[in-house]
Amino acid sequence: MSTESVAVEDLTLEDAAAELERLAKALAHHDALYHGKDAPEISDADYDALKRRNEEIEASFPELIRADSPSRKVGAAPSAIFQQITHARPMLSLDNVFSDDDVRDFISSVYRFLGLLPDNSIAFTAEPKIDGLSMSLRYENGRLVSAATRGDGTTGENVTANIRTIREIPQTLPSDAPAVVEVRGEVYMAKGDFLALNEQMAAEGKQTYVNPRNTAAGSLRQLDPTITASRKLKFFAYAWGEISEMPADTQFGMVEVFKRWGFPVNPLMQRLSSIEAILDHYNDIGLKRPDLDYDIDGVVYKVDRLDLQQRLGFRSRSPRWATAHKFPAEQAFTTVENIDIQVGRTGALTPVARLTPVTVGGVVVTNATLHNADYIEGIGNSGERIREEGHDIRIGDTVIVQRAGDVIPQVLDVVMEKRPATAERYRFPKICPVCGSHAVRERNEKTGKLDSVTRCTGGFVCRAQAVEHLKHFVSRNAFDIEGLGSKQIDFFFEAEDPALSIKTAPDIFTLEKRQSESPLTKLENIDGFGKVSVRKLYDAINDRRQVALHRLIYALGIRHVGETTAKLLARSYGSYAAFSEAMKAAADTTSEAWSDLNTIDGIGEVVARAIVEFYKEPRNIDVVSRLLEQVTPLDAEAPVSSSSPVAGKTVVFTGSLEKMTRDEAKAMAERLGAKVAGSVSKKTDLLVAGPGAGSKLEKARELGVETTDEDGWFVLIGG
Ligand code: IVH
Repeated sequence: MSTESVAVEDLTLEDAAAELERLAKALAHHDALYHGKDAPEISDADYDALKRRNEEIEASFPELIRADSPSRKVGAAPSAIFQQITHARPMLSLDNVFSDDDVRDFISSVYRFLGLLPDNSIAFTAEPKIDGLSMSLRYENGRLVSAATRGDGTTGENVTANIRTIREIPQTLPSDAPAVVEVRGEVYMAKGDFLALNEQMAAEGKQTYVNPRNTAAGSLRQLDPTITASRKLKFFAYAWGEISEMPADTQFGMVEVFKRWGFPVNPLMQRLSSIEAILDHYNDIGLKRPDLDYDIDGVVYKVDRLDLQQRLGFRSRSPRWATAHKFPAEQAFTTVENIDIQVGRTGALTPVARLTPVTVGGVVVTNATLHNADYIEGIGNSGERIREEGHDIRIGDTVIVQRAGDVIPQVLDVVMEKRPATAERYRFPKICPVCGSHAVRERNEKTGKLDSVTRCTGGFVCRAQAVEHLKHFVSRNAFDIEGLGSKQIDFFFEAEDPALSIKTAPDIFTLEKRQSESPLTKLENIDGFGKVSVRKLYDAINDRRQVALHRLIYALGIRHVGETTAKLLARSYGSYAAFSEAMKAAADTTSEAWSDLNTIDGIGEVVARAIVEFYKEPRNIDVVSRLLEQVTPLDAEAPVSSSSPVAGKTVVFTGSLEKMTRDEAKAMAERLGAKVAGSVSKKTDLLVAGPGAGSKLEKARELGVETTDEDGWFVLIGG
C-alpha cells in the first residue's frame, strides 16, 4: 500500500522500510534518466520532494537507512549512456613520488627486487605525464574495433564512436601489426585549443570550461560524436593492454613501434641509465613545461626491458616497474575576501572570488573564477560533487588556489579546519546586482535540466548587458573599431551629454555628426582624446560603414550565434535582407523558412530558436533598423563559382563514411562550391550515403533525391 501521504511520524516501522525501498528505486530511476539520458521525467521540485521525504523518513528511522540509500550517494550515478567495456587487461594507475630521494628509493627498490647490484646498470624511460584521460584502443586484424575509458580500471565506458573522430588516432594499423593489440595512451586537449574553445563559448554567451582535462573528458562523453569531432582532441600512445604478439622487447622499442604504426608519441621521451641523468631530464621537462601546448603534471619513469617489467610485476593497483615523479603543484593558500558577481553580455551572472593576493607559481593571484552557483555549492556540471567531499565555498574561507598554465586560477579546495565559525553559506543572488531585475536559472528545453548559469532577465534594461553588448559589437571579430575599446565604451555609455552618449550600436555611427552640431562638450577637449585621436576614431568608425555580412550578424550578439554560426548564416542567406526576412518568417515553426533554417548543417534547434527569438523582439528590430541607416552590409560571397559538378548544389552526407571523416567530407564539398545540409528536404540535390544510412536515405528516396555512396561521390567529383 502506498504511504506517501502519511505523515512521517505516523508511519509504522514496516511501512517506513517499504517506503524507503520504493524511494531508493524511484530516485535511482530518476537519477539514471537525469544524468544518463539527459531526459528527466519529473520536475526538479518533484525530485527534491522525493529526496526530502527520504531524508525525513531516515531521520525518524535511522535504523532503516539502506546501504543503497539515495542520501548516501554523492554525485552522478555512473552514466547509463555509454556501454561498459571490460578491459582485457586491467588499466592500472601509477605510484607517485615527489622528491629526488623518493626517486632514488624507487630505483633502488627495483634493483633490490631484481637482485641486481648497483653497477649492473639498467635503463629507464622517462617521459612527461600527460594530464588527460587514459584510453584503451583495441585493434583486431588491423582495424580499430573499440575504445574504452579507464573507468575503475577493470571496466570503462565504450566511447568508440567519439574516438573515431580524433584524427590523430589511426583507424587501421599496418599489415605487420599483431592480430589483436590494445594501444593505450592519453587523450588530451591542447592548451591553445582549450583557450580558443573557451573564447568561442564566451562569445556565444555559454558557460566556459574549467581546464583542458575536464574539457577533454566532457568532449569525449558526448552523445553526439560531431561535438567530439569539433573539439580537436589529441592523443599520445605510451602503453598497451592485450597484445597477441610483442613487436619489441623494450618500453622504448614499443613506443617506437607505435610511432611507426601512426600513433603520436611524446617527443620528450628518453632512455636513461643513471639517476643523475633521470633527475636532469625531470628538471629539463619541468623547465619546458610552461611552453608545452599540453598540460603535464610530472614525469613517468618505467623500467625499459620488458622481461624485467614482467619479473617486477604489480602491486595491487600499480606496477612495480614504473612511477610518476610529480611536479610540485602551483598552489597556494589564501582567503576569500569577498564574492563579486559580474554580469556579462548575455546576462550571465558569474561569481568571482576576491582573494587576499598570493603568489602562485610566480604570478600574483587576486581573483579566481567561481563559475556559477553550483560550483560554489560544490556541484559540477553533471551534478557530481567537485573538490574534496564537495565542500561549498564561503566568504572568509581559507582556500587552496591553483594556477594551471594559462588557465584562470581555480579554487581547488577549502580548508575546513580554518573555516570561521561565522562563515555563512553563500547565497547566490536572485536579483541582478546591476539592474535589480530577476536573475533566474533557465531550464534547458531539450533536456529539461536546470542550466548552471544564472541569468539576469533585464535584457536592455540592464546596464551591464547593454555595455557588454556594445563591447561585443566593436570587438575584433565583429565591427572591429579601432580606438573604441572597453574603456572608451564605458566612457561613452556613461556620458550624459546627448552629443557624446553612446547607448546602442547605431549611436556609434552618429557620434561624429552629433559632435559637429552643437556639442556641450567637445570630445577632443576630454582627457585622453585630443584632436588627432578623435579624427582617427571617426575614420575608424567610418571605415566600417560597409561591413561583411557575417560580421554584422555576429555583432548583433544573438545568443548562441558565434563567429562560425554567423559565417554559416551569411553564406546560406547571402544578403542581410534575405536573412532578416527569413528569420522573421521562421517565427512560424510550420513555415518553410523555419525548416530551411534548421536544415543548415551546423545550426541546431537551440541556435535556430535563439535567432528567431531575437527577431521577435521589437527593441532588436528597432536597433537593427537604425543601424542599417548607418551601415551597409556587404552581401556574402556566392559559393566559389567552380566548374565542379557539385557547385551550387545542396549535399547531405549520412551513414558512416570510411574514406574520409565527416569534417573532411564537408570541407571537400564546400571547397567544390556545394552547400552541405544536415537533413534531407526537397532542396537537397544529392545524398551521399555510407553504410548504416537510415531515415535520411529513406526520405531521399521518397522525395526522389539523387543518392550515391562514398565511391560514387569520389567518381562524381573526379577524386
Ligand atoms: S603509464 C601501468 N605513462 O597517469 C601504467 N601513464 O597515474 C600505465 N598517464 O592512468 C600508465 N601520462 O592516465 C603512463 N606517459 C604516461 C602517462 C600516464 C599520463 C596517466 C594515465 C594513468 C595515470 C596513472
